[in-house]
This record gives sequence, structure tokens and C-alpha cells, in this order.
Amino acid sequence: MSEPLKGVQPTEFKGFSCESHPVNPRLQCITLSAEALGQFEKNSLKWDLQAIEYKPFLRFVVANALDEACLGTLAPLLNSIMADRETAAFMFEYEGQPDGDISDFHVKLSTAISHLIGVPNFDAMYGKYYARFTVKNKDDSDSYLRQAHRRMELHNDGTYVKERTDFVLMMKMKEQNMEGGDSLILHVDDWQDLDQFYQHPLAKQDIQWGSPPSKQVDYKVYHPVFFEEDKNGKPHMLFIDQFCEPQNMQQGLYLYQMGESLESEKNCSNIRVPVGSMLVLQNHCWLHGRDKFVANPGLERELLRQRGQFSSN
Ligand SMILES: [Fe+2]
Repeated sequence: MSEPLKGVQPTEFKGFSCESHPVNPRLQCITLSAEALGQFEKNSLKWDLQAIEYKPFLRFVVANALDEACLGTLAPLLNSIMADRETAAFMFEYEGQPDGDISDFHVKLSTAISHLIGVPNFDAMYGKYYARFTVKNKDDSDSYLRQAHRRMELHNDGTYVKERTDFVLMMKMKEQNMEGGDSLILHVDDWQDLDQFYQHPLAKQDIQWGSPPSKQVDYKVYHPVFFEEDKNGKPHMLFIDQFCEPQNMQQGLYLYQMGESLESEKNCSNIRVPVGSMLVLQNHCWLHGRDKFVANPGLERELLRQRGQFSSN
């Protein structure tokens, strides 16, 4: 792995720090200072969550308030991290304690971050630009999203929708009686079998993708797993094992072997996301998943996600 962020000097940061994650140095850990947090709260006090949900332009105003609390140094850093394939991921945390409703604050903060790098897509499962969902000990839903006790396999988001999904933001809102359940992340360039699948005759062949009823998406989409190359000719990926719908034996075996290879990849990193922190990934060069939890009747975890497009597109 190459050294990330050669051109950015820490002395240029105001109101936050940035360093490489100890588990995976590609991942950049940004910590907002208590002072900048207080300034952001003050700057954005007059816009409550309802107003932000009703008026999309306020989401950009809130994002700007966060950048102003960092004297304009946060937005350039976030965008350079996401534009650099060598990194293309960050964890955002804060110091100090926000005043007022903590859940509302977390939605606001995640909104600020997503709108500093782009614009979120409408989340059909939740009916808003973001989604909040709870993982409990038991779940009867029709996909693995909310199920504990099992590993959610490495995947990209946005495989079965028409909208482009350049980034995925995952925030931990609440957590009780949780053991395990770390985020799993793998950079496409760290996947040791990449070439075997990327050079395969099916790498560029359209595959059918669909989703179960809970996703509220009533159409199919068609695209290859390696659906495009970035500006340097490196592959962008869209893969998820649950929602590809192979139409012949050749496709079925190719996709099965891809899933097996990804699940056995040793370069996959376990990342703990603390409550109030968010993990933001460039969705086409990073795969993500979730490790299993230890069963506990009192187990409960609430997550927030936003998925969207970069404004630089
Ligand atoms: Fe996902």
C-alpha cells in the first residue's frame, strides 16, 4: 500500500486532526475537535432536523456551517481523500458532547458530511435522503441487512438501482449489548484474486440485478460486475451476492466463485465504528460488509446510512 495523502499537510487543518487508521492505513481517521463541534452546533442551531428534511438546500447550508467551523479546511480534505483511489475512505469522529437531542445531532452531522462530498440519493427503503434502521437479536426480514449472528458478505451498494452510488456513509447511532459486529472493508486493489476475475471473459458481460420486496425497488438493472474504469484505467466494481440474478450456469459459477474468493480474502480489515462515528467509503473501489455478532437477547444497534453521488461528477 502506498503512503496516503502526500500533498496534504496536517498544519493546514483547522478544527480537526487526520491520521491513518492503525488497522488499514488507506482509511483516514478525521477527528473534529470539541471546539469546532461547538462552533458547528452554534452555526447550525437555527435549522432543526424537520427543516433540513423539508428543504433540501438547508442540507448544503448545514454542510457549509461545518466547513466554516473548520475555517474552510475540511471540505477540500474530504474531497481529496475521496478522489484519491489510494485512500478513498475516511472515518469521521468528534470530541466533546453535543447539546440537545443526540440522535438529531447525529443526523445533522452525517448530513453535513455527505453534502460536503456530494448529494445523497433518495433511500426508497426509508422514504428520505437517509435511512435509519435497527439491528436486533431476532429479525424476520427478507435480506441480511438487519440480521445479527451472521456475517454480511463483502459487497458494494447500489448494485440493483438505476442511480449512481459513488459513496456510502454508515453511522453508528446507538449500540447496546453488542459484541462483534465490526465493519469489514476491502479495497478492490488489495483483493489478491482481482486479476483472475477482472481478466475473465464474464468480467464485462451484463448481469441481471434485482432485490427483494423490502427494498422497494420494482425493476431489474443490467450491468457487468466491473462496470467501468476510473481515470487511471483501474476497475470500478458493483457486486453483491444476494442480488445478482445469473441467467446461466457460466454466470452462476463465476459469481459464486467471486463470492467465495472475497470471503476468504486475508486483506479484508475489521474496523470498529464507535457510537457517533461514521465510516465513508468510495463505493466502487471499496467493498464493505459486517462481521457477525454474539447472540444476546438485549442486543440492539441503530445505524444510519446515506448513499449518493459525488458533486464532482
Ligand atoms: Fe451495504
